[in-house]
Amino acid sequence: MLPGDDRNSVAESLQLVATEAARYLDRLDEARVRPPSLFGGRREPLPEEADGALATLRELIEMADAESTRSAGPRFFHFVMGGGTPAALGADWLAGALDQIALNWVSSPFAMRLEQVALDWLKELFGLPSTWSGVLTTGATTANFTGLAAGRRWWGLRRGIDVEEEGLTALPPVLATEFVHVSATKALAMLGLGRGRVHVLPPEGVEEALRELDGEPAIVLATAGDVNTGACDPLADLADLAERYGAWLHVDGAFGLFAAVSPSTRHLVEGVDRAHSVSVDGHKWLNVPYDCGVAFVHDPGLHYGAFTTSAAYLGGEDGDRPVFGNLAPEMSRRARALPVWATLHAYGRGGYRRMVERHVELAQRLAGQIDAEPRLERLADVPLNVVCFRYRPDGVAEVELDELNRRLGRAVLEDGRVYFGTTVQDSKVAFRPAIVNWRTGSADVDLIVPVVLELAEDVGGA
Ligand SMILES: Cc1ncc(COP(=O)(O)O)c(C=O)c1O
Repeated sequence: MLPGDDRNSVAESLQLVATEAARYLDRLDEARVRPPSLFGGRREPLPEEADGALATLRELIEMADAESTRSAGPRFFHFVMGGGTPAALGADWLAGALDQIALNWVSSPFAMRLEQVALDWLKELFGLPSTWSGVLTTGATTANFTGLAAGRRWWGLRRGIDVEEEGLTALPPVLATEFVHVSATKALAMLGLGRGRVHVLPPEGVEEALRELDGEPAIVLATAGDVNTGACDPLADLADLAERYGAWLHVDGAFGLFAAVSPSTRHLVEGVDRAHSVSVDGHKWLNVPYDCGVAFVHDPGLHYGAFTTSAAYLGGEDGDRPVFGNLAPEMSRRARALPVWATLHAYGRGGYRRMVERHVELAQRLAGQIDAEPRLERLADVPLNVVCFRYRPDGVAEVELDELNRRLGRAVLEDGRVYFGTTVQDSKVAFRPAIVNWRTGSADVDLIVPVVLELAEDVGGA
């Protein structure tokens, strides 16, 4: 069948998917997180002739029902993963149907305008200056890449090098704090700055390192929201240092930037408005469907300089309106502004503040349950939404604890009532459930401790 022969099944295809997806989502609250069955090894050859949309979608729905991780649900505490709010999910589907290219004002004025509004709202939400440029990206990795690319351009210009034209003829020093996330070092690798060249220091060590550079411009990489604990670097102090020593301060705020949304946690990111570039995720605490991130840069000229390109066929620039294809790594871009705009429009600053506060309260509730259980040991303070702990029953030697917790971590994932894996915190294998999903409530969080204790008996830890 040709796609054109299938034209009449558009409405029926969308209705089928809407009905089945709603049914799937309705069952999320009860479902185990792990997929009911793992990939069944279906590896068919590419069909030569085929049956069109409806038959295919029915098969895909069946596969999804059997094999998809219920990561959109309330007890997926692994990684740092939000769900799609109802408004964001609907708008995301609409983005697929409209199929806009969010490149420039010729390809889609609608996507450009919504991205402009969505970014203005996000700057307001996070308390970032309205004069900064911003752009939607695929996630925090590309947002880190974008902010650090602007920093690389800044460094080049300070050294008389137009990096985008000439390439790298030297390399900037990069100082990172111990919370640095692997995505930021991946971004440095992609930028040709070399992840192995990063000096990782405690925040107190940054000043001495800058002093030793003796006025050479450097990039300082800070984190708001350590992935293991939710802890934030002292951004105001680092901003002071960046100012004093003429450095570029990039803040990876993938989820931690949401601390700015509530008066009770705002102090954790105080000073972020004095950074030079900031990244945050959309598919984490903003709860828009994958994939979405945001990069903000304090100097739009440097941001454009890092990503602008043009060709005769692409169409002219339109005055001072932002051309997002010239602020992002990609040119052809999905209209990610639709879900971002829709969720902010639907729930507003108040809705996000209350959601963040509820998640922070739930993290405190879990921390309290862990502290009250002698067989569990909390390994870090809980400033935000991540609770880091391990199983530590009496009578098990310290050297055996890592292996025991690894076994327990595998059992938690296989069991699937709650879902989180292990990490390493202070050289100890530990769990780090992260509470980010708008659906998560106290009943979901209250399952964590009993499930861990029950499975610990099964893996021979009691
Ligand atoms: C602090 C931090 N930065 C960056 C990332 C990477 O984000 P993404 O997977 O959206 O690229 C994460 C993901 O957990 C994170 O916690």
